[in-house]
Amino acid sequence: MPMKPKLVEAFNIQIQAEFQSAYTYLGMAGWFTENNLPGFSQWMRIQWQEETLHAMKLHDFLHSRGESVTLRPLTAPSKKYTSSVQVFEQVRKHEQSITASINDLYELAFKEKDLPSQIVLQWFINEQVEEEALVMEIIERLKLVGSDGPSVYLLDRQMSSRTMPVDVSAT
Ligand SMILES: [Fe+2]
Ligand SMILES: [Fe+2]
Repeated sequence: MPMKPKLVEAFNIQIQAEFQSAYTYLGMAGWFTENNLPGFSQWMRIQWQEETLHAMKLHDFLHSRGESVTLRPLTAPSKKYTSSVQVFEQVRKHEQSITASINDLYELAFKEKDLPSQIVLQWFINEQVEEEALVMEIIERLKLVGSDGPSVYLLDRQMSSRTMPVDVSAT
């Protein structure tokens, strides 16, 4: 069954938002590398990959519904960060805005009675809860270690252990 044009448009905007997230996190990965925190940089690279995967999940969903994907322009991420905590505060703000747009998208899918869209978006709703919780945890840890060199070093090592999760959508 074809999707309503308004819903297709909203999915395309969300694809852009996910790619924009990826690009933003790649910028942050660069900032961490340039500030001698390779573990945090690695964590951000995983985040970049994850967001790209999110974009592709929606991208492929539109195609599987026989709809058209329209890629939109991305903007250059800012690299004017003052501290690791500030970077993660930005991540938190960004993820909150993504949560809001996912929720709006779900609401539209619900209003349009598009059941497959609702199901695909439920995955994203869960993902946003997990992401926001994870980011909060990192902010708390960063605040805890403050500027204590050895603790920052250990936290950076710990951050480097993050790996890509198995793509559940592939099953
Ligand atoms: Fe995402
Ligand atoms: Fe995200």
